[in-house]
Amino acid sequence: MGAERLRGVVALDGPSGTGKSTVARRLARQLAAGYLDTGAMYRAATLAVLRAGVDPADPEAVPVAVRAVVEVGTDPASPAVQLAGEDVAVEIRGEPVTSAVSAVSAHPEVRQRLVDQQRRIIASVLASGRQGIVVEGRDIGTVVAPEAPLKVYLTASAQVRARRRGNQDRRAGRGGDQASTLVAVQRRDELDSGRVTSPLRPAEDAVVLDTTELDVPGVLTALRRLATERGLVELAGGGPR
Ligand code: DC
Repeated sequence: MGAERLRGVVALDGPSGTGKSTVARRLARQLAAGYLDTGAMYRAATLAVLRAGVDPADPEAVPVAVRAVVEVGTDPASPAVQLAGEDVAVEIRGEPVTSAVSAVSAHPEVRQRLVDQQRRIIASVLASGRQGIVVEGRDIGTVVAPEAPLKVYLTASAQVRARRRGNQDRRAGRGGDQASTLVAVQRRDELDSGRVTSPLRPAEDAVVLDTTELDVPGVLTALRRLATERGLVELAGGGPR
């Protein structure tokens, strides 16, 4: 069997702890596609705000602080994140950024700036050697790429998401007990779903996939099946499977 390739955009949205990042990266690797982690861009912008000593809620100072240059790579094997040329991949996962990112990403000017950049990145990947890209975030199917031929909204119970987030934090050497992780996950859900500009919600034509009872291979199988059914998976050098 020849190698399979993705053609077009797969939009993967949902709250944190649904396994989105893991499956988005693996799907992109399996299907020789690009990968875009839009959450990493909001996190790097938030780091710029914190480093500038700006209050994340300040509607005037935040849009100025996020003019710092945020760059993200699209190779699923090594997704790099840079702020003004500095590798910030580790720092953006720390507690200070995680606590402030919902407030920073609620500002319409911040969203407009990053959505424009995300659309440019997607277009440049599709114009390059890769013909497909997996884009993960909160508003990909609704705002960034509403024309994507496959939109999937991942969900899972808050308890399961907090457990996954806690495991991820422990693997990365970050502390935090289960109860406080659950509170933090629920708080971020509320902020992300309740904001006025592009709140977290499934697109009308998104497939909602509940991952509470699924492991990573199970989610990947479901995503690959959906992409194949939509005619987005082709054999390298050939037509649709
Ligand atoms: O996926 P993540 O946990 O790294 O995302 C961090 C935050 O960024 C999340 O709480 C909300 C925000 N975000 C957003 O508003 N829109 C996106 N497309 C991606 C992330």
